[in-house]
Amino acid sequence: MFQFPGILINKHILLAVSGGIAAYKSAELVRLLRKQGATVRVVMTRSAMQFVSPLTFQALSGNPVHSELLDANEENAMGHISLARWADALIIAPATANTLAKCSHGLADDLLSTLYLAATCPVYVAPSMNQAMWHKPVTQENIQKLKSHGVIVIGPGQGDQACGETGFGRMSEPLEICRQLMADPTAQCLNGLKVLISAGPTREPLDPVRYITNRSSGKMGYALADAAIKAGAKVTLVSGPVSLSAPVNADVVSVETAAQMHAAVMSKAAEHDIYIGAAAVADYSPALMENEKIKKQAEQTTLTLQKTRDILADVAQLPDRPFTVGFAAETHDLEQYALDKLARKNLDMIAANWVGRDQGGFDSDQNALQVFWKNGQKKLAMTDKNHLAEQLISLIAERMEHERHDKNTA
Ligand code: C5P
Repeated sequence: MFQFPGILINKHILLAVSGGIAAYKSAELVRLLRKQGATVRVVMTRSAMQFVSPLTFQALSGNPVHSELLDANEENAMGHISLARWADALIIAPATANTLAKCSHGLADDLLSTLYLAATCPVYVAPSMNQAMWHKPVTQENIQKLKSHGVIVIGPGQGDQACGETGFGRMSEPLEICRQLMADPTAQCLNGLKVLISAGPTREPLDPVRYITNRSSGKMGYALADAAIKAGAKVTLVSGPVSLSAPVNADVVSVETAAQMHAAVMSKAAEHDIYIGAAAVADYSPALMENEKIKKQAEQTTLTLQKTRDILADVAQLPDRPFTVGFAAETHDLEQYALDKLARKNLDMIAANWVGRDQGGFDSDQNALQVFWKNGQKKLAMTDKNHLAEQLISLIAERMEHERHDKNTA
């Protein structure tokens, strides 16, 4: 069964159809892409229109089909430059030998080839041609050239061909093309979403010179901010005191105490789609902050601590709450504590990790996570925190899409 990893939600896909018999398969591709939440616009070459009517693509995409480079009406509405700017990904399917040759040489004599030149987004091609044409050295050179220019080549597959021959050159199946688009790490799974992340430790002052804190470095939260930005999100990072440089393009709010972090997060949570509580918030803070330095006197002394407010649980209580993700750093009974927090704090997801066992975690560059949600879990193996953050971000996008899908079909 086809899964819904959420990678294509809100994504603008520009599908360029060139003139091959496989053009009929691209009609199914439009349907699949839209099912994954993408908005699709279709561009056709003149010869593509000999194979499939533009009306088919118009009906399936829900948008008018573009075919002319110099059409006064289209240029006013959405000309080649605005189409290229609009696209988050350009997929040329089927890509004929002629189209591949034009793209690899930078020719721009029709709308499709001009769009290829104008596109700054990731470009995918799904070649489709007779097996002898595919194996011709000049075609292979063109493919290698396109690859070296960063184009992602999907297929072609092997098998019976429309011309009666057998071999390489069949356009990949629409499902396979769709999967590859979704698997691409540069695909933006959080495109257009707003993500609020809290990171780092908090400092709870005892007096003007002393405070209680913990070993959190903030690396995981900062890596999550970077990964969310890469995934297309607008990120607000509420950070405790850390010695890390702020992620480029994040809106950073610096705080010190748990109370300040609570106030900052609560004031922003409702306007975000996702909240990830990756901070190691102090569970207790001194009941009283002395205005002057506490003097050394007795052999023993006692601190009275007051429980802090639980930011994560409070966000999860909000009426219009974001998709809420917590962390659980545990030294023992990891699964049991994580599941307890997931239920007790009413979270959508919790990412649990071992701490204090020479297994990454606090202040380390590496970590491993066991992620739980209602009726499911996934282990993310030990790796560097940047890679781990990318995996967690795409898992969050996947779970959000599942929830959205479940709600729509309920
Ligand atoms: O209950 P515990 O502190 O173990 O839960 C950890 C999770 O709760 C983390 O996501 C942490 O950011 C969050 N937390 C919080 N406010 C607190 C304490 C923890 O948001 N006061």
